[in-house]
Amino acid sequence: MEPIDRKTFLATAGAASLAGAAARPSVAAADAQDAVFLSTWHWGMEANRRAAQIRAHGGSLVDAIEKGINVVEDDPNVTTVGYGGYPNAEGEVELDAGIMDGHTHRAGSVCSLHKIKNPISVARLVMEKTRHTTMAGEGALQFAIAMGFKPMQLLTPGALEAWLKWKNTPNHQTFWIDGEHHDTIGMVAAGGGSVAAGCSTSGLAWKLPGRVADSPLVGCGYYADDAAGAASATGDGDVMTNYCTSKHIVQKMAEGMHPQEACADLMRYMARSARELHTNMYCVIAIDKRAEIGALSMNAAQPLQYALWRNGQGALHTAPHFL
Ligand code: GLY
Repeated sequence: MEPIDRKTFLATAGAASLAGAAARPSVAAADAQDAVFLSTWHWGMEANRRAAQIRAHGGSLVDAIEKGINVVEDDPNVTTVGYGGYPNAEGEVELDAGIMDGHTHRAGSVCSLHKIKNPISVARLVMEKTRHTTMAGEGALQFAIAMGFKPMQLLTPGALEAWLKWKNTPNHQTFWIDGEHHDTIGMVAAGGGSVAAGCSTSGLAWKLPGRVADSPLVGCGYYADDAAGAASATGDGDVMTNYCTSKHIVQKMAEGMHPQEACADLMRYMARSARELHTNMYCVIAIDKRAEIGALSMNAAQPLQYALWRNGQGALHTAPHFL
C-alpha cells in the first residue's frame, strides 16, 4: 500500500467522522483518528489533552509524550513529579525521567537530576543528541545546562513545609508520604503504526540522596517497541525495578497477549516473590500497536486511576486489580 501523507490522512479522517458513526469506536476507527494516549493518575487527563494537541498539530508521538508530561512536571501541586515534587532526605528535589521511541528503539533517561524542572525534555535530548542512553547526577545537570535549560529552585514552599514536618517528626520511620501514594506520570501512546512511552517522577519522598528506582530505567519504568506495544509502571519502584515490569509486559504483547492479559502476566510473575502484595502499590499501563489498552493494580488497597484519550475525548478510569 502507498504511504498516505498527513494532509490526505487528516482529510480522510475528517470525512470519516463527518460520515458520523456514533457507535462505539473500533480499533480501526481509533487508528483512523490517529493517536491514543494512556497515562497514570488523574493528572494524566491534562497530560493527554496536551499530547493530543501536539499530535493534532503534526507532532510525533515522542513530541506528544514529552509535552504532555511537561504539563505535570510544571504543576507545583503535583508533589511527586517535577517542580513541587517532594525532596530527598536532605531537602533537595531529585528528578528522574525516561522516554522511548518504539520506532527507532532508542531511549533516553536522566537520574537524580537537580534544579531542572523538565527532566523528560532532558531525557529526550539524551536520546536524540548523544549516543548515550542514561545520564545521572551532576553530569546530567551539566548536559541540561549545555542544552539550554535554566537551573532553578524546585523546592516549593509547600514541599519545604512538608519536608520540615517529616524531618522534625521524632523517629520518622517511613520513606512513604502519609496519605496519597501516587507517584509518577507514566504515559504510553499508539498511533500511525508506532508506539512510544515516557515516565517522570521526583521519586520516593524523603529518599536517600542518590536513590534511583524504576521510572528512569529503560525496561522498568517505561518501554516501547513498534513490533508489539508500550508499557509504563507506577508504584513502589524499589520493588518493581526487580521485575523489569515494562519490558516484561511488552515481551508478552510481542508473544500475542492482549495488553490487559500482559499486565496480569506481570502481576502473576511479581506475586511469586514481591513483598506486601496486599498493601503495597504496584501498578502498570500498556498499549499495543493497534491501540488496545491494559491497566492493572496489584491490589484493591492501592487502586490505579488512569487517563485515556481516544477519538478526541478524555476520560478517567479506575483499573481492575489483580488480587
Ligand atoms: N515509581 C517511582 C519511584 O518509586 O520512584
